[in-house]
Amino acid sequence: MTELLIHNLSEVATAHGSEPLSGGDLGRVSRTPGAEIYCRDGRIAYVGSPEERRRRVGELPDVPRLDGRGGTIVPGFVDPHTHLPWAGSREEEFRQRLAGATYQEIAAAGGGILSTVNATRAASEDDLAERVLRRMDAMLAHGTTTAEAKSGYGLALDPELRQLRAIHHASEVHAVDLVPTLLAAHEFPPELRDQPERYVELVCEEIVPAAAEAGLARYCDVFCEHGVFSVEDSRRVLEAGRRWGLTPRLHADEFEDSGGAELAAELGAASADHLIAISDAGIEAMAAAGVTAVLLPGTSFFLMKHTYAPARRLVEAGVPVALATDCNPGSSHTESMPMVFVLAVFELGLSIEESLTAATLNAACTLGLGGEIGTVEEGKRADLVLLDAPNLLHLAYHYGVNPVTKVVKGGRVVHEAATPWSLREL
Ligand code: NIG
Ligand code: FE
Repeated sequence: MTELLIHNLSEVATAHGSEPLSGGDLGRVSRTPGAEIYCRDGRIAYVGSPEERRRRVGELPDVPRLDGRGGTIVPGFVDPHTHLPWAGSREEEFRQRLAGATYQEIAAAGGGILSTVNATRAASEDDLAERVLRRMDAMLAHGTTTAEAKSGYGLALDPELRQLRAIHHASEVHAVDLVPTLLAAHEFPPELRDQPERYVELVCEEIVPAAAEAGLARYCDVFCEHGVFSVEDSRRVLEAGRRWGLTPRLHADEFEDSGGAELAAELGAASADHLIAISDAGIEAMAAAGVTAVLLPGTSFFLMKHTYAPARRLVEAGVPVALATDCNPGSSHTESMPMVFVLAVFELGLSIEESLTAATLNAACTLGLGGEIGTVEEGKRADLVLLDAPNLLHLAYHYGVNPVTKVVKGGRVVHEAATPWSLREL
């Protein structure tokens, strides 16, 4: 039996439940001063006051203790949109963008996703797994305990499966859990640029079945956008995925309104992501279908777009909203959910409480894990982040620093910051 008692906290901040929250409920977060958390066998066995704990679970004299030293506990962050297994680097392209070139211009000139495809195709599975593990270390240090991870830089059967195997291997050996998504329809491969319909066929008839049969993916994703995969292509790919047991999720309306949100609603997708250019009809369709919007403000920031997804309109329409990093080498090079949290508050206009729900419970729900993780509640897995902060508000108030001092995963401390209490006010 593994046990841990987390005590001496200033507060525990969390959303509640196991279903995605929307509208006025999105910001319904409790902040309990002085609470303790008792973890047993990987799960949260008790959250509440020390007095009540003594009554309900006892004195626990022999249980290992984690002294919160006046810090704040929040649920482990869940990052539901990343492109972790890539090789190579694109800082030169980034410099061109800083000098005025656009992401689409660079892609049209053969750079962008395709340059990462070339580097990733040349990498071995071990090399990819090693790179994924290094990025997971950075994620964990910033409080992420579960993340989704996509393929999509292989664009052919073998390298797509290699990416998915690297994700599986990394997830097995690292404290962070990864949920794998097949994104073979991320771009058209260079060798089939003139025959895009052949690639769609290859994805539907070979790559999706092979990934599903090998048990390598849980979700199927498509980059649905003008100039990439049309709504018709996307529907074909996602329906093929569904026939093979892969739940659909989409990159939708990132640069232009391309009907991606409506398609997500039609298919009952697990999420529609990006949505910077979503139409009013798209918002209504998502609200009616109950599809979650995964917002990626790091991408607007890193692409210097100065436009962000209409988060407030989505919330007001009743669409559940989640947050993610989009961690990738071209459009959002960060593993940090605290950075995304700050952007959500400053640029999306979400409140601090809404951002917490979006980065934890709602994110967990889009990965089908709302019953397991995403809140600090009895019965859930003990995936917790100890912030070097006296309360939740500091997650946005004290920006540009890493507020994560310790991370607990399945009831065990799996990460401790090198300078654990450096942010404390004197
Ligand atoms: O989510 N939009 C497409 N895919 C990624 C970018 C991938 C890349 O540039 O390498 C995204 O932004
Ligand atoms: Fe993405």
